[in-house]
This record gives sequence, structure tokens and C-alpha cells, in this order.
Amino acid sequence: RWEGEAEIDYVFKVVVVGDSAVGKTQLLARFTRDEFALDSKSTIGVEFQTRTLTLHRKRVKAQIWDTAGQERYRAVTSAYYRGALGAMVVYDVTRRATFEHVARWVEELRAHADGSTVVALIGNKADMPAARREVEADEAARLAEEQGLFFSEASALTGDNVERAFLTLLEEVF
Ligand code: GTP
Repeated sequence: RWEGEAEIDYVFKVVVVGDSAVGKTQLLARFTRDEFALDSKSTIGVEFQTRTLTLHRKRVKAQIWDTAGQERYRAVTSAYYRGALGAMVVYDVTRRATFEHVARWVEELRAHADGSTVVALIGNKADMPAARREVEADEAARLAEEQGLFFSEASALTGDNVERAFLTLLEEVF
């Protein structure tokens, strides 16, 4: 018997949103393929990557959707969010504006996704030098608490916390 599809117990759809260039595509690449590219191009439209893992003795295929942060490249919003069990709202710890927009992304999520969608707030690029930082972790943690979101900083570049953030989200969906 072939390994793969036949043995999948669940498919979990997770969507990743956030402003352009916060590192959504690279977080996905890190989690699904353990890869990273410094010269990542802007996403146009929608793409997804999958990774199959075992949770509580079940084979779970995580189907992680990535869309453009740039408005002009965004595809149909409702189709993107439809059926999402989990979501990640990503900002860049070195660009304050991307953090200021988090509330807007959460609103869009709440408007289009299911009420039970589990949401995580991710502060990416935590590897950057402290002098470049424009958002402190405790401020983001407060926002996450107010909004009822999981929170973690992460780095797609070093891989720090990426696995843990996705696994926490998938565990919570389970
Ligand atoms: P859009 O597709 O335009 O929405 O952008 P995106 O959010 O998918 O960003 P992308 O993953 O393309 O990354 C944007 C830039 O940030 C690229 O140059 C990446 O190499 C860089 N980058 C992504 N993650 C990290 C990180 O954790 N640390 C650092 N230092 N750079 C990162």
C-alpha cells in the first residue's frame, strides 16, 4: 500500500495573513520544508503547502495557505478563509506599522472565518538586532491576550519557535 493520502486521518486548513513582507511565505517554507530564502518574492494570489504529521496517533495533513499581503495581489477573501480551522496573523517585529495593522487582519479573519477558528499572533524576524526592533514582545502579548489569541515571536530565518508555533496551533485545532 502507498504511503500518503490513504493514511491521512484529518486535513487541517490553516491560513496565514499579515502585511506584505512580514515573512508569511518563509514561515511556511520553514515549517513545511525546513527551508528559508532571503530573496523571497511577493506572493501573488494564493498558494498552499502541506506537511503531514502525527498528533495523538492520528495522521494529520496540515494544509497551510499563504496569500499576498499586498492588496492588489489578494485573491477572493471569503474563499481563502473558508474552512480554516486555524489562522496565523503575522507582523514583523522591526516594522511597527505591520503590528498596528494586526487588529485589521484579526477583524477580517473574524468576518470571514468560522467563529471557532483558532488564531495565533506571530511576531516574526525575532532574529533581527535589538536596535532594529520596533515592537516589544510584552506589548504584543498584551494585545494577544485582549484579543484571545495565542502569541509567540519567531524567526523563519533561524527557525526559532516556528515548529512550536505551528504545532501549538495544530494541537489546539485538534
Ligand atoms: P507577501 O507575499 O508580499 O505578503 O510577503 P510575505 O509576508 O510572504 O514575506 P516573505 O516571506 O516573502 O519575506 C519577506 C522578506 O523578509 C524576505 O526578504 C525574507 O527573506 C525576509 N524574512 C522573512 N522571514 C524572516 C526572518 O525571520 N528574519 C529575517 N531577518 N528576515 C526574514
